[in-house]
Amino acid sequence: MAELLKVTELGKDLREAINKLEVSGDLESVGIVTRVGDGVAWVYGLRSAGASEVLLIETKSGTVEAFALNLNEDEIGAVLLGSDEEVVAGAKVTLKGTILDVPVGEEMLGRVVDPLGKPLDGGPAIKTKQRGLVEREAIGVLGRKHVHEPMMTGIVSIDAMFPIGRGQRELIIGDRQTGKTAIAIDTMINQGRQKTGVINIYVAIGQKLSKIARLVDRLKAEGVMDQTIIVATGPSDPASLLYLAPYAATAMGEYFRDNKKHALIIYDDLTKHAVAYRQMSLLLRRPPGREAFPGDVFYLHSRLLERSAKLSDKLGGGSLTALPIIETQAGDISAYIPTNVISITDGQIFMETDLFNQGIRPAISAGLSVSRVGGDAQTKAVKSVGGGLKLGLSQFRELASFAQFGSDLDEETKQQIERGQRLTELLKQHQYSPMSIWEQVASIRAVTSGSFDKVPVAKIQEAKTAMLTRLWKDHKKEMQELNTGAEKIEDESKVAGLLDKTAVAVAKGFED
Ligand SMILES: Nc1ncnc2c1ncn2[C@@H]1O[C@H](COP(=O)(O)OP(=O)(O)OP(=O)(O)O)[C@@H](O)[C@H]1O
Ligand SMILES: [Mg+2]
Repeated sequence: MAELLKVTELGKDLREAINKLEVSGDLESVGIVTRVGDGVAWVYGLRSAGASEVLLIETKSGTVEAFALNLNEDEIGAVLLGSDEEVVAGAKVTLKGTILDVPVGEEMLGRVVDPLGKPLDGGPAIKTKQRGLVEREAIGVLGRKHVHEPMMTGIVSIDAMFPIGRGQRELIIGDRQTGKTAIAIDTMINQGRQKTGVINIYVAIGQKLSKIARLVDRLKAEGVMDQTIIVATGPSDPASLLYLAPYAATAMGEYFRDNKKHALIIYDDLTKHAVAYRQMSLLLRRPPGREAFPGDVFYLHSRLLERSAKLSDKLGGGSLTALPIIETQAGDISAYIPTNVISITDGQIFMETDLFNQGIRPAISAGLSVSRVGGDAQTKAVKSVGGGLKLGLSQFRELASFAQFGSDLDEETKQQIERGQRLTELLKQHQYSPMSIWEQVASIRAVTSGSFDKVPVAKIQEAKTAMLTRLWKDHKKEMQELNTGAEKIEDESKVAGLLDKTAVAVAKGFED
């Protein structure tokens, strides 16, 4: 039998309430709040409660829900899902009889909700046929299949050099204000533009509501809001809601994954999530470890990201792709939370402050970014031109670093540097302008094949746009075919000839 609470420490009313409970023999299914504050309630009794079980706390004006997080021998630490103002010591607590769950289904599409699935967009109440568990075991190895279908971001540098596949977990990492969110948003927009049918789920963790409102407006204007769910929490929401947001959103994503569909989930960002968890844990008096995070902070994110998967054919072949975002301090990817998340994802897109400030945007680092599983998922067309891109870029970076020390360069080196400058220029891409497969292929080839060698660096973007316009106007059918991405671009092939001919002709108009 658990040791009883030291009854002398408690107030008279509370003592009486506990005595009554002990006499009644209801300690299994009934509890009493002993203290409350900062969104956390401690409950004596309720011995049959399990982790994540929903508790009902009686207050003057109805019940407040909470979920059990700390199961100690004689006490439960519970996180309140509503305001703690009405909850007082001595309040009666019972079990709701369910594990925490949220509404899931098609009905959620187009909506902005809180982590409990309640609308935040002023729209009607959401009625779904199904609910999904906020905490759920990840699917085992046998239920999975290797990642093999592309999840096109529309961002040339990513699709060509660090391709992402459906079911993959690719981290977006970088300092503040380096374009991390922009990558995620463009990827969502691309799902609409390319009509991929992929469902977007965007999780805002502790973000200003004005920012979320702007995002919703943008997604509506782009026509992708009706295939999107936004799970939002603001900076003034209790830590418990910030903590729940990614799990609740994942449950919403799993619905699509488990129903043979494809969904993309963006966690923006997991740094704030870890901080919310730390706050909750300290309030629950868990022993702090490194950087004051509780010891299980690794498990916090690993059990979350494990739920993203490409399912086996037997399970319907659906997928959930995750793009978690992590904010670094001064580019330090070896800090505690960044290394944790790097180790549980299948690669990372690293954003560099220096590149961003030089105007090279998206500021994706070619050296520190990697995608470990997406290669198989890359379309043949992009793959066949993308190889030259990565090579050209890495040779350029190497050469450029020592070329600045001397002016005597041989012709070949000079040419490689010139080519590298053009590639760098080509990879600059404005926000909200994801590119389709044929546009990516044609642009990359124009530079890597040398067709644009005589176009001045400053005019590369202009020449690219002119070339794409011309290709679409004169060869729409071929471009549509190229856009399926199914065919490799062989140098001798008809489409390669067509691309090169057009690129060379357009380049003539831009030469000095
Ligand atoms: N490709 C781009 N071209 C031009 N501007 C961009 C591009 N990507 C991002 N920006 C601009 O840079 C700024 C920062 O972008 P964003 O908010 O995506 O960065 P972040 O890393 O998510 O920032 P935070 O750390 O504040 O969340 C924004 O004003 C955005 O409009
Ligand atoms: Mg951001």
